[in-house]
Amino acid sequence: MPSAPKTFHIKSFGCQMNVYDGERMAELLVDTGLAPVAPGEDSDLVVLNTCHIREKAAEKAYSDIGRLRRDDGSRPMIALAGCVAQAEGAEAQARSKMIDIVVGPQAYHRLPEMVAQVARGGRPIDTDLPGLAKFSAFPNRRRAAPSAFLTVQEGCDKFCTYCVVPYTRGAEISRPWTDVVAEAHDLVEAGAREIVLLGQNVNAWSDGDRGLDALIRALADVDGLERIRYTTSHPADMTEGLIAAHGEIDKLMPYLHLPVQSGSDRILKAMNRSHSTDSYLRTIEKARAARPGIAISGDFIVGFPGETEQDFAATLNIVDAVQYAAAYSFKYSARPGTPAAVMDGQIAPEIMDERLRRLHDRIAVHQLAFNRALVGQDTRILIERKGRQLGQMIGRSPWMQSVHLETSAVPGDMIDVTLISAGPNSMAGAVRTEPISRVAA
Ligand code: SAH
Ligand code: SF4
Ligand code: F3S
Repeated sequence: MPSAPKTFHIKSFGCQMNVYDGERMAELLVDTGLAPVAPGEDSDLVVLNTCHIREKAAEKAYSDIGRLRRDDGSRPMIALAGCVAQAEGAEAQARSKMIDIVVGPQAYHRLPEMVAQVARGGRPIDTDLPGLAKFSAFPNRRRAAPSAFLTVQEGCDKFCTYCVVPYTRGAEISRPWTDVVAEAHDLVEAGAREIVLLGQNVNAWSDGDRGLDALIRALADVDGLERIRYTTSHPADMTEGLIAAHGEIDKLMPYLHLPVQSGSDRILKAMNRSHSTDSYLRTIEKARAARPGIAISGDFIVGFPGETEQDFAATLNIVDAVQYAAAYSFKYSARPGTPAAVMDGQIAPEIMDERLRRLHDRIAVHQLAFNRALVGQDTRILIERKGRQLGQMIGRSPWMQSVHLETSAVPGDMIDVTLISAGPNSMAGAVRTEPISRVAA
């Protein structure tokens, strides 16, 4: 049985919300006296913060557990956290003696107590979905990356027929206005220049009659905060107010991630997506009218049960119609317990592979065209990290591209550049002025 740990490591898989949760759990563990180790180093406690969205994502958690046994036969204390823990943690723990703790995404406030229970010989499980309890347990933010995540909304009520999120993250719930604004202030004080508001359906956020656009407007008044983004949005929750905000708030970046999943109305219906290709395209049109040049990104699933070649052709068509600046595409993965998993017409893996390839190619054409059209443009970028070459730094453009450049600027600096060349996945920039705003040390 593992004894009381002194050091820990948290490994997060999946979406940005898991990254956020991982950061908060780390802060919580540090507060209880544990020390973090660098990735790859041995630690007394390992938290696997898992993702259940596709079969491959879920498998990663289990293969990682196997690799945690040390050469001498001992092993660290292991906590299975995140969406796999929520979905099948109890069964997994019954099968594997290596899993000491099972903790679901809304129970992280109990993690320190659960660690103590293991040291006393317990094997605690908590997969309750109490809503927002974890947030009040997390300590104040003391350190932040130049671009920091801030979860404002959890859960999903949409029940797309392929998706596990409503089961692993529970019902839609919004954090209160005052808590979010306070955390934003903390993050800025801790060094953040950009805040990315997160939620499984972030644009469903509300507090009373105030929606996400009102929250963004308030955050735009926070001194020292230069940029605001939000992700992921559902097309059905794109309000007129939020679209208008893109034209009215300079700090709100010209980037909208709006997953469509398919270009076929028949498939969208079978997916229970609650938007049509028509309503989706109208939303994109309005966003472009509000903020000309806005980068549109999206998610796609190929090979949903019953998807014909004709349905897939409609997906390629919507890619052309929208001309995405970026898009993520996935092979449909049947998830246990979801309605689509038992639908007729499951698609053969070879067909999915082939459709995924064609979709990638089509998206890449538009992505490169979007980047190329920006060559010659003057813009401001936020420096995020060092590049691979000496003196090279990598920052982010307003449209979300990575921009490589040579500069003495450091992470957190904002600098004016001219975009000088474009690749499919990134751009190069030349500095016009040295740092025009620097983080207060
Ligand atoms: N709430 C967001 C998506 C969260 S999941 C939305 O509604 O857009 C992120 C992406 O994973 C989804 O947009 C979808 O494209 C993909 N995805 C979800 N379930 C999947 C499954 N069973 N198989 C393949 N891809 C899936
Ligand atoms: Fe999943 Fe659909 Fe909810 Fe997105 S909206 S999290 S795809 S159920
Ligand atoms: Fe994965 Fe859970 Fe996020 S299933 S995508 S980690 S909400």
